[in-house]
Amino acid sequence: MHAAAAQSAVDAKRLWDDLMTLAGFGARDDGGVCRHALSVEDMAARAWLTDKARERGYRIAADDAANLFITRPGRDDTLPPVLAGSHMDSQPAGGKFDGAYGVLAAFEALRALDNAGIETARPVACVAWTNEEGGRFHVPCTGSRAFATGAVPEPEQTDENGVPLAEALKTTLDAAPDVERIAPGFPIHAYIEPHIEQGPVLEREGLPVGVVTGIQGVRWFNVTVSGEPGHAGTVPHAVRRDAFQAALRAIGALNELMHDPDDIVRFTVGHVSVVPNSPNTIPASVTFSIDFRHPDAAVLDARASRIAGLVAEAVKPCTAVLTPTTVMQPVAFPDAVTQAIAAAADTAGLAHKQLASGAFHDAAHIAGVCPSGMIFIPCRGGLSHHPDEWATAEHCSAGARVLAGTLATLAG
Ligand code: HGY
Ligand code: MN
Ligand code: MN
Repeated sequence: MHAAAAQSAVDAKRLWDDLMTLAGFGARDDGGVCRHALSVEDMAARAWLTDKARERGYRIAADDAANLFITRPGRDDTLPPVLAGSHMDSQPAGGKFDGAYGVLAAFEALRALDNAGIETARPVACVAWTNEEGGRFHVPCTGSRAFATGAVPEPEQTDENGVPLAEALKTTLDAAPDVERIAPGFPIHAYIEPHIEQGPVLEREGLPVGVVTGIQGVRWFNVTVSGEPGHAGTVPHAVRRDAFQAALRAIGALNELMHDPDDIVRFTVGHVSVVPNSPNTIPASVTFSIDFRHPDAAVLDARASRIAGLVAEAVKPCTAVLTPTTVMQPVAFPDAVTQAIAAAADTAGLAHKQLASGAFHDAAHIAGVCPSGMIFIPCRGGLSHHPDEWATAEHCSAGARVLAGTLATLAG
């Protein structure tokens, strides 16, 4: 009964207007969004959401990782809350919905519970996790990892301008002095993350809702290849130690290692930096990223263990240093949560199917501390990490209704 009341109180227009307003923080000329973690744009978005939460009388808090928690009280506030949300930081050429949708669908669910006059046993909280994307600080899921472990991961890591994460966190937290400060990590009863699918399945099958079964595993590395700088016009190739040519050989060898006739392995080199990056100086060093994913931990381990030797051989006579930066094990969400989400979708009269996530999410880390799950909605053409990323107001509302119903049930 409460689930249905909460669902029908979701206001589709209010949610859509919020999504379009949030997209304005870091709006790009091409319709996309660039809202790096802890940037001026991110701080403005946080202030905007905090003001809206304050209007509602919700409790607002931030932890040492600048994770933002907006809590609607329950009958017994000593009970661990049910948490829902996602991230507000974006890719550098990202879209309006990746992460932002989950935070605002959660915020809309809190308001729907208000509007339906529902008092839950447990508090219900909306969360915006810090630096999920890893676009500015290249160790992703900073906030959810801090929450799961109790400490900010690699606070000394710097962005491309040499700004340490710890400094960016302090700047962001100091910009909101009236927000209560809490330590990272507190007991939560369950966590639900709404998100666009970032794939083509739901759109192709004409389904408004996906019940996510789990998230594939991820390994991130940085490879720094060191050579010998020199004059492009005078140094014979016979004696060159060209770091860029060596990096190309290493990436070619990695492409062979990661070849998969079943097209399940995901291997991407997305970030490359060249020093000194001048047309007429032989590159002294090149650093490139490795993003390697697969649903089976054994495949991840087997292929990841071969990367170091293969790169060292391929770059000769240059040398290479391989630095693992992220390990996310494959995650399966518990039946209790996937069933609660499916039941809420049924109550809302929304067709749904189970599917796994190819993208990683903060839920991958929170699943280690409490029963977690995800709700997917379709996105146009499965497009994401792209300025043209798009979801319809109808699907955004449908996902929020499923979330509101799920929260009403899980929070009692
Ligand atoms: O990279 C990912 O899978 C996520 O979208 N940040
Ligand atoms: Mn995301
Ligand atoms: Mn993303």
